[in-house]
Amino acid sequence: MTQRYSLVAIILHWAIAALLAFQIAVGWALEDLGARGFSLYQWHKSVGMLILALTLVRIAVRYWKPRPAKLEGGWQGALASGVHVGLYAFMLGAPLTGWALVSTAKVQVPTLLFGVLPLPHLPLPAASHTLAENGHGLLAWLGIALFLLHAAGALRHHFLMGDGLIWRMVPGRSTALLVALPALILGGVVAGRAILPAPQAAPTPVPPPVAEQADTEIDNLAQMEAVNATAPADNAAANATQAAQEEPVGPPPAWTVQPGGRIGFSIGNDGETIKGSFAKWTAAIVMDPDHPDSADIKVTIDMASASVGDAYKDGMLPGEEFFGVAAHPTATFVAKGAEATGPNRYRASGTLTLKGVSKPQAIRFALSGKDAVRKVSGSATIARSAFGVGNGDSSTGLTPQVALSFDFTAKRKE
Ligand code: HEM
Ligand code: HEM
Repeated sequence: MTQRYSLVAIILHWAIAALLAFQIAVGWALEDLGARGFSLYQWHKSVGMLILALTLVRIAVRYWKPRPAKLEGGWQGALASGVHVGLYAFMLGAPLTGWALVSTAKVQVPTLLFGVLPLPHLPLPAASHTLAENGHGLLAWLGIALFLLHAAGALRHHFLMGDGLIWRMVPGRSTALLVALPALILGGVVAGRAILPAPQAAPTPVPPPVAEQADTEIDNLAQMEAVNATAPADNAAANATQAAQEEPVGPPPAWTVQPGGRIGFSIGNDGETIKGSFAKWTAAIVMDPDHPDSADIKVTIDMASASVGDAYKDGMLPGEEFFGVAAHPTATFVAKGAEATGPNRYRASGTLTLKGVSKPQAIRFALSGKDAVRKVSGSATIARSAFGVGNGDSSTGLTPQVALSFDFTAKRKE
């Protein structure tokens, strides 16, 4: 009779245990993150399906490779076996309910396992969604309870009974592994917490948004008016003192958007206001505040990063009714040239391409700060239906206009 489980059974035991810990740590964070956690959802689904696959292999191995005989009879032995059955049910049930809940969601978000393998949706009635969702959350707790019983049993055998049972799941009776393998479970929890995005809507400093803009000082209204009224060269002269410490007036400078910026939106819905933001976007900005006519602005927004801070609504945003992320992952705003509308205030009329539709769109913005670091804040009003956003059943209460606002700091590229 073998003394321990086969090596492959042992590897699967600990790998699955660690992955499950990761899975629960990420799962609990998903609802709070909403669409900010879009890539986390993909991770959660990928790792979950991996657990399902590994568990199926493990069950096959169980019948294939010899296992040690049961050590204990009586009610304790029965309890141990019962807990094992329960753990298998959890290892299968958690991924299956997860798969079912995704398949029956109102908005069918496509899943690409590990970014490569498309996960088909199970042909289940939409009515089973709530059951699957509740079951999914509950199974995690059931799994934790079983795990605690299971680990307590292992400890009891090890410390109270000293019968060496634990070595059946630890290769080579290695004390180092006896510590390291269970520590993998802790590692799974830590990894699950570590990949969560920073709390709050702190936009992930995506490939650092690049803003470009030229720069000379605009410090008062008179100069501002000069900018509006006269040719750029005149104003450069008026600005000579300040400009002396700055870059020579040359081609309009490019600007880099600093991490911590925000693009938010709000929309009325049956009398209440829904507010959200895009966690991922980049901007390439070339602009001389004194000569806005030569500005060149391009903002690219990752539409899958939209969140209104509500998991249910966030799940709908990427769908066909709203952003249609699968076919149109990004929206862009492009403007060549801007005009000054007041001191440090501008308007850029450009083109917004959203959900594959391109329309003229104006944005307004103001600059503050000076020299190489400027704060930019602005807004735009977007007529969403022109872009086919929100034209379905769930959108009847939505106001036609979406108010967009943005705030970020831009640093001049040297
Ligand atoms: C393999 C084991 C899995 C475990 C242990 C697990 C665990 C969890 C946990 C603890 C939550 C949070 C539930 C809550 O707070 O109510 C969650 C949420 C979620 N899980 Fe899983 N999960 C697993 C696999 C999967 C799979 C395979 C999928 C999809 C293919 C999936 C999709 C989801 C989704 C979409 C949520 C979001 C919450 C919701 O809409 O209710 N999970 N998961
Ligand atoms: C501190 C953590 C853990 C320890 C010390 C541990 C230890 C053990 C030991 C010693 C056995 C062999 C029992 C015997 O031969 O009678 C075993 C079996 C088993 N363990 Fe764990 N385990 C841990 C965590 C987990 C977790 C998180 C799961 C999964 C969800 C799990 C699932 C199983 C299953 C299903 C078996 C039965 C294997 C079979 O006979 O098919 N264990 N575990």
